Amino acid sequence: MKRLAVLASGRGSNLQAIIDAVRAGELALEIVGAASDQPGAQALARAAVAGIPTAAFPRAQYGSRAEQEAALLAWLTSLRVDIVALAGYMRILSARFIQELGCPILNIHPSLLPAFPGLNAQRQALDYGVRVSGCTVHFVDEGVDSGPIILQEAVPVFPDDTVESLSERILKVEHRVYPQALKMVAEGLVRPERRCGRG
Ligand code: GAR
Repeated sequence: MKRLAVLASGRGSNLQAIIDAVRAGELALEIVGAASDQPGAQALARAAVAGIPTAAFPRAQYGSRAEQEAALLAWLTSLRVDIVALAGYMRILSARFIQELGCPILNIHPSLLPAFPGLNAQRQALDYGVRVSGCTVHFVDEGVDSGPIILQEAVPVFPDDTVESLSERILKVEHRVYPQALKMVAEGLVRPERRCGRG
């Protein structure tokens, strides 16, 4: 069985959805660790409750971003991970980290990429006035929210939506789509080297 580690900075509801999918037998992966850059993240508490080993790598504890990433890399390597899932992990990973880790890294983003990358995607969607938004699971490359797309799902945007109401609608879909995308990667149905539909 493939070994998965999850990185999260906050609430960890996507981590919870992944834990639940594994428990329900819908996703054949072993979650071998959960880490955060925020020691107090709810995500770490959720992992601990599920009996998953946790670790924190707060940026302030290291002299540089490179040192923080080196510590995270050493931890992931010691866990012999096959797949890493970013689930609300709010730090950009360097090209060097991605290359040295050498396994697929997935990310979930609350918009239909390439629309609205970066921070506050739901706010960006409302400000633009789109009628449809959604979520994207993609492989992480050296850009910001730019790697090959694995799965997307759309949700409507209503005229009276707030950031909160739209975020909630998207989050519900995220919880279904992320385990599905992980299943596709675990089963070798998609690979980071090429974009869907390209030779
Ligand atoms: C999710 O909406 C996820 O798509 C978003 O953060 C939230 C994390 O929620 N990620 C990004 O915006 C990454 N650019 P969670 O901690 O409850 O899973």
